[in-house]
Amino acid sequence: MKILVTGGLGFIGSHVVVELQQEGFEVVIIDNLSNTDISVLDGITAITDKKPVFEKLDLRDKVSVVSFFERNADITGVIHFAASKAVGESVKNPLLYYENNLNTLVYILQELQKKDSAKFIFSSSCTVYGQAHTMPITENAPVQKAMSPYGNTKQIGEEIIQDVCRTSSSLKAIALRYFNPIGAHDSFKIGELPLGVPQNLVPYITQTAMGIREHLSVFGGDYPTLDGTAIRDYIHVVDLAKAHVTALKKLINEAQGPIYDYFNIGTGKGSSVLEVINAFEKVSRQKLNYKMVERRAGDVVEAYADTAKANEFLGWKSIFTLEEALESAWKWEQKMRN
Ligand code: UFG
Repeated sequence: MKILVTGGLGFIGSHVVVELQQEGFEVVIIDNLSNTDISVLDGITAITDKKPVFEKLDLRDKVSVVSFFERNADITGVIHFAASKAVGESVKNPLLYYENNLNTLVYILQELQKKDSAKFIFSSSCTVYGQAHTMPITENAPVQKAMSPYGNTKQIGEEIIQDVCRTSSSLKAIALRYFNPIGAHDSFKIGELPLGVPQNLVPYITQTAMGIREHLSVFGGDYPTLDGTAIRDYIHVVDLAKAHVTALKKLINEAQGPIYDYFNIGTGKGSSVLEVINAFEKVSRQKLNYKMVERRAGDVVEAYADTAKANEFLGWKSIFTLEEALESAWKWEQKMRN
């Protein structure tokens, strides 16, 4: 079965391509290389021993999207990662985000709607919950007004898919609401490749430990949490990647069941920034240079998943611990720099 992975050379996309290939799926990757490097294709190939078909394509170019699907009529499933994901940038340039994240989604769905049968997995985010009122967050928690255009594109994206599924008997879709993906493949041939100064905690930590950044700024030590720092649910990217394959198989194998559904993909465990730093110091056996600074605008206090729905309906569960995920991120950082 042939699956298109858009953004398949990105951090999460590349790990999903590996899992798909290892499960016997034929994979075609589209990526515009705006936030990754073509060398990721070699990394994937070195792991799976099978080079996925790759096409450099910008999904905002509708004519090219139509032509791609005409040339690849046997694609029956799409896992859609290609999107912009920097919260701060989205506040500064909202139209870029609406164009990149929503126009492209519409173009792909238009092509899938033409098919007799198609499966679609959407890369969504726990950002749709905003600051949820109760922890852990279940899928019943209300979607709250987005705090950034980026977050809004994930909310609107889910709504677009749901609306399309309602009217299309041939399209089945699942949105996966990721918590905080970290870590790298255990071959250390693929991992996270942030361009410029990392925005996310774990790549910032590993780059600081590597001496590339002078110190980590911990954004906020006065949150109403046990140690005063914000809490997130950090999930190993390989666990997250496997969730996509499980969700895809669910759509393929279950003739019955809802045509649109959404799941939290996290570990179910919340960790504070200081807990992450401590765990990192333990696995890397070195002290991390960090300073407490002001809160970062737009950050929620805490967000961790109730994973019961994914456990029960998808039969998926995360396996890796925070320490294991941090250790893999650290090994990847070291390997990348040497
Ligand atoms: N943090 C720091 N210092 C840093 C970077 C982050 O203290 O240099 C803190 C943040 O304030 C936050 C935690 O580490 O408390 C995690 O921050 P990340 O930036 O790694 O992740 P976020 O939870 O802010 O963002 C992630 C995704 C977004 C998504 C969001 C949904 O990166 O795309 O989850 O909640 F929108």
